[in-house]
Amino acid sequence: DTAALQEQFNATIAADHRIEPRDWMPEGYRKGLIRQIAQHAHSEIIGMQPEGDWLLAAPSLRRKAILLAKVQDEAGHGLYLYSAAETLGADRADLTDKLIERKQKYSSIFNYPTLTYADVGVIGWLVDGAAICNQVPLCRSSYGPYARAMIRVCKEESFHQRQGYELLMTMMGGTPEQQAMVQDAVDRWWWPSLMMFGPPDDDSPNSAQSMAWGVKRHSNDELRQRFVDMTVPQAEVLGVTLPDPELALDPETGRYRFGPIDWSEFKQVLAGNGPCNDERIARRRAARDDNAWVTEAATAYAEKHAAAVHA
Ligand code: 3HC
Repeated sequence: DTAALQEQFNATIAADHRIEPRDWMPEGYRKGLIRQIAQHAHSEIIGMQPEGDWLLAAPSLRRKAILLAKVQDEAGHGLYLYSAAETLGADRADLTDKLIERKQKYSSIFNYPTLTYADVGVIGWLVDGAAICNQVPLCRSSYGPYARAMIRVCKEESFHQRQGYELLMTMMGGTPEQQAMVQDAVDRWWWPSLMMFGPPDDDSPNSAQSMAWGVKRHSNDELRQRFVDMTVPQAEVLGVTLPDPELALDPETGRYRFGPIDWSEFKQVLAGNGPCNDERIARRRAARDDNAWVTEAATAYAEKHAAAVHA
């Protein structure tokens, strides 16, 4: 009966063991996971766009090869995540439709434009750096398929972060114009990167339940603080200034204090009013609609093949 199943589920969570697709789980756990995993998958797929914009304008063949590999990795991350969502009974085509109809979210960060090649480096350093901070603890998430997907995603994100930092180091060793491009990109991406971690803890409706179920392991503010502490010394080595006059080491805690985040900007981006929301969704819609014939042909072929195997 349900009470016994619930008890078994609670015991699995309490023992810090993993919940697997065939295990019984409360409906809220399933729905919450589909929400988070789908949003995460959409972020990876939409996240291909801002950097993909530079594939044809990379400054050298080496940079183009690196960027191509990175954008391709993001497509792979999207696929693992959609597959993880499917183990919970979600349908991938349905999730894509919900993204295009704006019924499901994707990360706020991908609604900002990439204005110069320095943005490619800053996305690697700050955006992928923030993604790692947020996702490493998800390797211990209570849902098995999600946690296992995160292990590979984090390894690849770690390469992404380093290529970004290496690109920025190279530019900082270049001309004053190149150095100015890096500083400008840092100025534009710093605050949106802090917003990636989500609203402050006292305004985060999903956190308490998600942490009780072991889906999330740390709160939004905790991970944001961890990211700031990790990044400030890297900015010093790079030779850039982070655009926050209140940023300062607190000698008592050994952690960096930082200025207030503009949550009204975050809310505007979530409401669909960021600089690139319309463009990002329009491209996904075009990709779905223009390529529908490929999906139909592949589906017809697969059905024919399956029928032949069973004949
Ligand atoms: N962008 C868009 N929406 C956000 C957001 C953000 N940065 N942060 C929070 N939200 C949304 C939440 O989804 C939630 O909306 P919903 O209830 O309608 O789904 C609402 O704001 C309130 O936030 P909560 O803190 O209550 O939500 P969560 O407990 O789910 O925490 C989260 C938010 C920390 C983003 C968590 O979902 C999470 O850790 N997700 C997994 C990681 C992820 O999705 N990362 C996206 C970036 S992927 C990336 O950068 C890879 C790159 O290399 C391409």
